[in-house]
Amino acid sequence: MKPLTIAIDGPVGAGKSTISDEVAKRLGILHLDTGAMYRAVGLAAVQNGIDPRDEDAVCRLCKDGRTQVDVKYENGHQITLLNGVDVSAAIRTQEAGSAASAVSRYQPVRKMLVARQQEMAQQQSMLLDGRDIGTVVLKDATVKIYLTASAQARATRRRNQLLEKGTDVPIDQILSEVNARDYQDTHRAVDPLRQAEDAVLLDSSSLSFEETVEAILNLVEEHA
Ligand code: DC
Repeated sequence: MKPLTIAIDGPVGAGKSTISDEVAKRLGILHLDTGAMYRAVGLAAVQNGIDPRDEDAVCRLCKDGRTQVDVKYENGHQITLLNGVDVSAAIRTQEAGSAASAVSRYQPVRKMLVARQQEMAQQQSMLLDGRDIGTVVLKDATVKIYLTASAQARATRRRNQLLEKGTDVPIDQILSEVNARDYQDTHRAVDPLRQAEDAVLLDSSSLSFEETVEAILNLVEEHA
Protein backbone atom coordinates (compact mmCIF):
# COMPACT_ATOMS: atom_id res chain seq x y z
CA MET A 1 0.00 0.00 0.00
CA LYS A 2 1.18 3.54 -0.78
CA PRO A 3 2.46 5.30 2.37
CA LEU A 4 0.22 7.98 3.89
CA THR A 5 1.74 11.42 3.36
CA ILE A 6 0.58 14.53 5.18
CA ALA A 7 1.90 17.95 4.14
CA ILE A 8 1.61 20.85 6.57
CA ASP A 9 2.85 24.26 5.48
CA GLY A 10 2.39 27.68 6.96
CA PRO A 11 4.03 30.83 8.24
CA VAL A 12 6.28 31.19 11.25
CA GLY A 13 4.58 30.87 14.62
CA ALA A 14 1.50 29.02 13.37
CA GLY A 15 2.40 26.15 15.71
CA LYS A 16 3.25 23.75 12.88
CA SER A 17 5.93 21.86 14.76
CA THR A 18 4.12 21.14 18.02
CA ILE A 19 0.80 20.49 16.28
CA SER A 20 2.51 18.22 13.72
CA ASP A 21 4.26 16.29 16.49
CA GLU A 22 0.98 15.58 18.22
CA VAL A 23 -0.94 14.68 15.06
CA ALA A 24 1.81 12.27 13.95
CA LYS A 25 1.93 10.70 17.42
CA ARG A 26 -1.83 10.06 17.42
CA LEU A 27 -1.66 8.56 13.94
CA GLY A 28 1.34 6.43 14.86
CA ILE A 29 3.48 7.81 12.04
CA LEU A 30 6.77 9.75 11.93
CA HIS A 31 6.95 13.55 11.80
CA LEU A 32 9.68 15.20 9.78
CA ASP A 33 10.35 18.81 10.78
CA THR A 34 12.00 19.98 7.57
CA GLY A 35 12.92 23.37 9.06
CA ALA A 36 15.41 21.48 11.26
CA MET A 37 17.28 20.40 8.12
CA TYR A 38 17.61 24.00 6.88
CA ARG A 39 18.76 24.96 10.36
CA ALA A 40 21.47 22.26 10.18
CA VAL A 41 22.81 23.75 6.93
CA GLY A 42 22.70 27.22 8.55
CA LEU A 43 24.65 25.82 11.50
CA ALA A 44 27.20 24.21 9.15
CA ALA A 45 27.86 27.64 7.63
CA VAL A 46 28.27 29.25 11.06
CA GLN A 47 30.57 26.45 12.28
CA ASN A 48 32.76 26.87 9.19
CA GLY A 49 33.02 30.63 9.65
CA ILE A 50 30.97 31.24 6.48
CA ASP A 51 28.59 34.17 6.20
CA PRO A 52 25.18 32.52 5.51
CA ARG A 53 24.45 35.38 3.08
CA ASP A 54 27.43 34.32 0.94
CA GLU A 55 25.62 32.08 -1.54
CA ASP A 56 28.74 30.79 -3.32
CA ALA A 57 30.51 29.83 -0.11
CA VAL A 58 27.42 28.09 1.32
CA CYS A 59 26.85 26.18 -1.93
CA ARG A 60 30.50 25.11 -2.03
CA LEU A 61 30.08 23.81 1.50
CA CYS A 62 27.14 21.66 0.37
CA LYS A 63 28.83 20.34 -2.77
CA ASP A 64 30.18 16.82 -3.15
CA GLY A 65 28.56 15.59 0.05
CA ARG A 66 30.71 17.83 2.27
CA THR A 67 27.66 18.77 4.32
CA GLN A 68 25.57 15.74 5.11
CA VAL A 69 22.24 16.49 6.75
CA ASP A 70 20.31 13.50 7.93
CA VAL A 71 17.58 12.56 10.31
CA LYS A 72 17.04 9.54 12.52
CA TYR A 73 14.35 8.68 15.03
CA GLU A 74 14.69 7.62 18.65
CA ASN A 75 11.43 6.59 20.36
CA GLY A 76 9.57 8.39 17.58
CA HIS A 77 11.51 11.64 18.15
CA GLN A 78 13.46 13.30 15.36
CA ILE A 79 17.23 13.58 15.85
CA THR A 80 18.85 15.90 13.30
CA LEU A 81 22.37 14.96 12.24
CA LEU A 82 25.02 17.14 10.66
CA ASN A 83 27.87 15.04 9.29
CA GLY A 84 26.79 12.28 11.66
CA VAL A 85 26.73 14.51 14.77
CA ASP A 86 23.48 15.11 16.69
CA VAL A 87 22.76 18.85 16.35
CA SER A 88 19.12 18.74 17.52
CA ALA A 89 19.82 21.20 20.36
CA ALA A 90 22.44 23.35 18.60
CA ILE A 91 20.06 24.22 15.73
CA ARG A 92 17.53 25.81 18.09
CA THR A 93 19.50 29.02 18.68
CA GLN A 94 18.49 32.37 17.24
CA GLU A 95 21.74 32.37 15.24
CA ALA A 96 21.00 29.01 13.59
CA GLY A 97 17.44 30.21 12.87
CA SER A 98 18.53 33.31 11.01
CA ALA A 99 21.30 31.39 9.22
CA ALA A 100 18.62 28.87 8.16
CA SER A 101 16.47 31.66 6.81
CA ALA A 102 19.40 32.88 4.65
CA VAL A 103 20.59 29.50 3.33
CA SER A 104 17.04 28.32 2.57
CA ARG A 105 17.01 30.83 -0.32
CA TYR A 106 19.63 28.92 -2.31
CA GLN A 107 18.51 26.44 -4.96
CA PRO A 108 21.35 23.87 -4.43
CA VAL A 109 20.61 23.76 -0.70
CA ARG A 110 16.90 23.22 -1.32
CA LYS A 111 17.61 20.57 -3.98
CA MET A 112 19.81 18.58 -1.61
CA LEU A 113 17.33 18.68 1.28
CA VAL A 114 14.18 18.15 -0.80
CA ALA A 115 15.71 14.99 -2.33
CA ARG A 116 16.34 13.55 1.14
CA GLN A 117 12.85 14.51 2.34
CA GLN A 118 11.21 12.83 -0.67
CA GLU A 119 13.31 9.72 -0.19
CA MET A 120 12.20 9.41 3.43
CA ALA A 121 8.51 9.95 2.62
CA GLN A 122 8.63 7.18 0.02
CA GLN A 123 9.77 4.62 2.54
CA GLN A 124 7.08 5.02 5.21
CA SER A 125 3.94 6.93 6.16
CA MET A 126 4.98 10.40 7.32
CA LEU A 127 3.84 13.87 8.20
CA LEU A 128 6.15 16.60 6.89
CA ASP A 129 5.94 20.21 7.98
CA GLY A 130 7.67 23.16 6.36
CA ARG A 131 7.11 25.90 3.79
CA ASP A 132 7.15 24.01 0.47
CA ILE A 133 5.84 20.55 1.34
CA GLY A 134 2.51 20.77 -0.52
CA THR A 135 3.93 22.79 -3.41
CA VAL A 136 7.27 21.05 -4.04
CA VAL A 137 8.27 18.15 -1.78
CA LEU A 138 5.06 16.09 -1.77
CA LYS A 139 3.00 17.38 -4.67
CA ASP A 140 0.74 14.33 -4.45
CA ALA A 141 0.46 14.14 -0.67
CA THR A 142 -2.59 12.34 0.67
CA VAL A 143 -3.63 15.50 2.55
CA LYS A 144 -2.29 19.04 2.30
CA ILE A 145 -2.94 21.58 5.00
CA TYR A 146 -2.00 25.23 5.07
CA LEU A 147 -1.92 26.03 8.78
CA THR A 148 -2.00 29.69 9.59
CA ALA A 149 -3.22 32.24 12.14
CA SER A 150 -3.36 36.01 12.11
CA ALA A 151 -0.03 37.78 12.66
CA GLN A 152 -1.46 39.21 15.90
CA ALA A 153 -2.43 35.74 17.20
CA ARG A 154 0.98 34.28 16.26
CA ALA A 155 2.82 37.17 17.91
CA THR A 156 0.72 36.84 21.07
CA ARG A 157 1.46 33.09 21.28
CA ARG A 158 5.16 33.76 20.81
CA ARG A 159 5.08 36.44 23.52
CA ASN A 160 3.40 34.03 25.96
CA GLN A 161 6.02 31.34 25.20
CA LEU A 162 8.79 33.82 25.96
CA LEU A 163 7.03 34.99 29.13
CA GLU A 164 6.91 31.36 30.32
CA LYS A 165 10.69 31.31 29.93
CA GLY A 166 10.93 34.53 31.96
CA THR A 167 11.57 36.91 29.04
CA ASP A 168 9.28 39.88 28.57
CA VAL A 169 9.42 41.18 24.99
CA PRO A 170 7.04 43.97 23.87
CA ILE A 171 4.27 42.70 21.58
CA ASP A 172 5.05 45.37 18.96
CA GLN A 173 8.61 44.08 18.61
CA ILE A 174 7.46 40.48 18.21
CA LEU A 175 4.76 41.51 15.75
CA SER A 176 7.26 43.33 13.54
CA GLU A 177 9.58 40.26 13.61
CA VAL A 178 6.65 38.02 12.60
CA ASN A 179 5.75 40.40 9.76
CA ALA A 180 9.38 40.53 8.58
CA ARG A 181 9.68 36.70 8.53
CA ASP A 182 6.35 36.43 6.68
CA TYR A 183 7.59 38.86 4.05
CA GLN A 184 10.91 36.99 3.67
CA ASP A 185 9.29 33.54 3.42
CA THR A 186 6.62 34.59 0.92
CA HIS A 187 8.82 36.79 -1.30
CA ARG A 188 11.95 34.71 -1.84
CA ALA A 189 12.69 33.78 -5.43
CA VAL A 190 13.02 30.02 -4.94
CA ASP A 191 10.02 28.03 -3.68
CA PRO A 192 8.41 30.78 -1.62
CA LEU A 193 5.85 29.95 1.03
CA ARG A 194 2.41 29.75 -0.54
CA GLN A 195 -0.71 27.69 -0.15
CA ALA A 196 -0.88 24.82 -2.63
CA GLU A 197 -4.01 24.98 -4.79
CA ASP A 198 -5.25 21.70 -3.38
CA ALA A 199 -4.37 22.46 0.26
CA VAL A 200 -7.03 22.99 2.89
CA LEU A 201 -6.69 26.33 4.69
CA LEU A 202 -6.85 25.97 8.45
CA ASP A 203 -6.85 29.22 10.40
CA SER A 204 -6.10 28.46 14.03
CA SER A 205 -6.40 32.08 15.30
CA SER A 206 -9.35 31.24 17.50
CA LEU A 207 -8.72 27.50 17.95
CA SER A 208 -7.05 25.86 20.93
CA PHE A 209 -4.17 23.38 20.50
CA GLU A 210 -6.55 20.44 20.94
CA GLU A 211 -9.11 21.89 18.51
CA THR A 212 -6.41 22.38 15.88
CA VAL A 213 -5.10 18.82 16.32
CA GLU A 214 -8.63 17.45 16.01
CA ALA A 215 -9.39 19.54 12.93
CA ILE A 216 -6.30 18.08 11.23
CA LEU A 217 -7.13 14.52 12.28
CA ASN A 218 -10.61 14.99 10.80
CA LEU A 219 -9.12 16.21 7.52
CA VAL A 220 -6.77 13.23 7.41
CA GLU A 221 -9.69 10.87 8.00
CA GLU A 222 -11.69 12.53 5.19
CA HIS A 223 -8.83 12.29 2.68
CA ALA A 224 -7.12 9.01 3.57
O1 DC B 1 10.42 26.25 10.64
P1 DC B 1 11.80 26.79 11.04
O2 DC B 1 11.76 28.17 11.66
O3 DC B 1 12.59 25.83 11.85
O4 DC B 1 12.56 26.97 9.64
C1 DC B 1 13.85 27.51 9.56
C2 DC B 1 14.01 28.23 8.22
O5 DC B 1 14.01 27.30 7.14
C3 DC B 1 12.91 29.24 7.89
O6 DC B 1 13.49 30.52 7.67
C4 DC B 1 12.25 28.79 6.64
C5 DC B 1 13.14 27.71 6.10
N1 DC B 1 12.39 26.55 5.63
C6 DC B 1 12.20 26.42 4.27
O7 DC B 1 12.61 27.30 3.51
N2 DC B 1 11.55 25.33 3.79
C7 DC B 1 11.09 24.37 4.60
N3 DC B 1 10.48 23.30 4.09
C8 DC B 1 11.27 24.49 6.00
C9 DC B 1 11.91 25.62 6.49
